[in-house]
Amino acid sequence: MKVLITAGPTREALDPMRYISNRSSGKMGYALAEAAVKAGHETVLVSGPCSLTPPEGLAKFVGVISAAEMAEAVKAEFQTADAAVMCAAVADYRPKQFSTSKIKKNDETLILELERTEDILASLGSMKKPGQLLIGFAAETDDMEKNALGKLQRKNLDWIAANRLDLPGQGAESNTNTVVLYSVKGEQITIPLASKRDVAEAILNVTGVNKPCKGNSII
Ligand code: C5P
Repeated sequence: MKVLITAGPTREALDPMRYISNRSSGKMGYALAEAAVKAGHETVLVSGPCSLTPPEGLAKFVGVISAAEMAEAVKAEFQTADAAVMCAAVADYRPKQFSTSKIKKNDETLILELERTEDILASLGSMKKPGQLLIGFAAETDDMEKNALGKLQRKNLDWIAANRLDLPGQGAESNTNTVVLYSVKGEQITIPLASKRDVAEAILNVTGVNKPCKGNSII
């Protein structure tokens, strides 16, 4: 199977020096890519800027900076993908204006105007063809289940992996994670706290990216 994975944050430039970004380390996405390679998939990793080394054995690595660059790379790769796991923390807004000169500190306050970026996962949801498997992530501080189920429906996903951002041992930057997987068919499966590597393997098994085979435990 060709498996497409996104990882890491995006950076939205304000001027040649500054950008808006987030705390995503890329660890969960890189763990998913590693697990996909290990399972024998033709794995394409599209990554925002992070300090990790791409796993060995990838079919392709595409490094991007902004949400717009990620959107272009991901939509091109999705055309021929069998499954996509969108784990990147894509910026929802970017500065409306890019200043080619460095912004100077003249006034006491500075108001930035932001505009929405493309919701890449929602774009894939509307491009999705029968047989393609689309999995998203929802990192939440409040109302995790309600928000995750809303995204599952709105973005036309097959599964969503939800995790809390406000608890220790999970979410951005952590080496461990725990997620709840919700499917469009109404299934709900909790992957207990484990290393991101083990959680990644469980996500691929439960969602059907890895076809379960005889003798293999599914989680
Ligand atoms: O709606 P929200 O941004 O919380 O959805 C999170 C999911 O959507 C993640 O899978 C993330 O990779 C994806 N996403 C995206 N493009 C955006 C924002 C989020 O692909 N602009």
